[in-house]
Amino acid sequence: MEITKASILDLNALRKIELESFGKDAWPLFDLIAVLTFNDVIRLKAVEDNQIVGFVAGDPHPRDGWGWISTIAVDPRFRRRGIGLALLHACERKLGVPQSRLTVRISNQSAITMYEKDGYQTREIWKAYYNDGEDGIVMEKNLNQQEHH
Ligand SMILES: CC(C)(COP(=O)(O)OP(=O)(O)OC[C@H]1O[C@@H](n2cnc3c(N)ncnc32)[C@H](O)[C@@H]1OP(=O)(O)O)[C@@H](O)C(=O)NCCC(=O)NCCS
Repeated sequence: MEITKASILDLNALRKIELESFGKDAWPLFDLIAVLTFNDVIRLKAVEDNQIVGFVAGDPHPRDGWGWISTIAVDPRFRRRGIGLALLHACERKLGVPQSRLTVRISNQSAITMYEKDGYQTREIWKAYYNDGEDGIVMEKNLNQQEHH
């Protein structure tokens, strides 16, 4: 498995992973094009046997001192093999800011477990953040401590 920069050429593969991973929360086509083309966005893919098996994107906010992990997904057939954590770490390193933040559905236990294992802590709850009224958990991690993990 190799992690490299993603580009607009990965649109179809990304769309498939997003749909399989997020269902009703999958980003619309415009957002996928944006994440693959907008300046300053970090976009990384995990590739195995020439096939994209995972994707992560990050938005650095250097003036604020933090960045957001905006999406992360692994092909369901390739989960629990460390690809999610590897993508998260690669994106954190490229954010180039002291702190990483993200939002996750309060029911998304597998993702929350991964983030907690990686050192993320709950910062706040955004009530009814998602379309269906579910709460979002905002989690954060101090990236300066990364070398201790
Ligand atoms: C969250 C996601 C990216 C994790 O990807 P992954 O490649 O399976 O993650 P990893 O193999 O690196 O798992 C790292 C750790 O997270 C935890 N974890 C991951 N999936 C888990 C699950 N289904 N149940 C319990 N713990 C889980 C485990 O502690 C795991 O370590 P272990 O396998 O050694 O026990 C993947 O499940 C996914 O794409 N989900 C759908 C999209 C999504 O919810 N994204 C996050 C939105 S905020």
